[in-house]
Amino acid sequence: MVSCIDWPVSSAGATPLVRFEDVSKRFGALTAVDGVNLEIAPGEFFALLGPSGCGKTTLMRLLAGFAEPDEGRILLNGEDIAGLPPHRRPSSMMFQTYALFPHLNVEKNISFGLKQRGWNKDRASARVEEMLRVVRLEGLNLRRPDQLSGGQKQRVALARALAVQPKILLLDEPLAALDRKLREETQLELKAIQRTLGVTFLIVTHDQDEAMVVSDRIAVMNEGKIAQIGAPHEVYEQPASRFVAEFLGEANLFPDGAHWHLVRPEKMTLSATATPGGMAGEVMEIAYFGDRTRYVVKRPHGQVLRISRVNLGPPLSLEVGDAVWASFAPDSAVTLAS
Ligand SMILES: Nc1ncnc2c1ncn2[C@@H]1O[C@H](COP(=O)(O)OP(=O)(O)O)[C@@H](O)[C@H]1O
Ligand SMILES: [Mg+2]
Repeated sequence: MVSCIDWPVSSAGATPLVRFEDVSKRFGALTAVDGVNLEIAPGEFFALLGPSGCGKTTLMRLLAGFAEPDEGRILLNGEDIAGLPPHRRPSSMMFQTYALFPHLNVEKNISFGLKQRGWNKDRASARVEEMLRVVRLEGLNLRRPDQLSGGQKQRVALARALAVQPKILLLDEPLAALDRKLREETQLELKAIQRTLGVTFLIVTHDQDEAMVVSDRIAVMNEGKIAQIGAPHEVYEQPASRFVAEFLGEANLFPDGAHWHLVRPEKMTLSATATPGGMAGEVMEIAYFGDRTRYVVKRPHGQVLRISRVNLGPPLSLEVGDAVWASFAPDSAVTLAS
């Protein structure tokens, strides 16, 4: 099969810390990871984003050494890491479930990997204190996991994974168990920690907002393959395919021969009076979000449009059932390649 990846797999210039070369992994008849090519630069915050079951965790486990690829190579700093067990790799993984040791206190959870690696007591306790400062859990050394909130457990798991000074930290859906507000705060904190420490972070998530907020670049995955790699604004504004356009945010798609034109909801305007070139329709839903209002509009032939309007001034006086006209500037439409 010919793969036609025409976007840059690397960030310009930097020597990659990680390089996946035509990597595939099968489970019986299922190809979980299918011919992946991907480079991660030192110091990058890189996200693997895609729907559940698309192969994100499998790809990360191959890098961590919990599984070996059936095809292809994984290079770390230019060296093939095939066959190296997880603890001999310069990576550290934080699991979705945190996997804290319930019978060990915070301090012992964080120093666990240091002990394994033969750090002496003084050096290990200094490192534990440093990590507690980084994740803002000073003073909680002696608590057990069952005496911590969900957010605190997440921080202990992060501190434990970072303590061993990995070259790359692997985070598998690290914030999935937190409620929305805490998750959003923690996203910004993760980004700040990454920037401060300068460690390369690879995060797996199915949440497009999370990937866009935290990462420098995103690889969007679908059915084991990379659908697109780019900076958050690139994958959102210039999606390579209909799949990427629809997975990352909402998409208004207009057919044009063999192609589709994409217009994002915030690039459409809505008027209660007929506008030249406007698409007539009827308001189906109005959802007020405070900072913006989202409208669902149905055109006479059935196409449903999604329009988002920032509430800079008074809201439009519209109700469900009203006639409206939707329009967009021609240069805000993006032609999709597939
Ligand atoms: N150890 C395994 N044995 C068999 N199938 C697996 C195994 N691990 C993952 N899979 C399958 O591989 C596919 C990709 O899984 P995974 O990498 O966990 O996806 P994601 O993390 O994107 O949700 C899924 O269909 C999953 O059921
Ligand atoms: Mg997963």
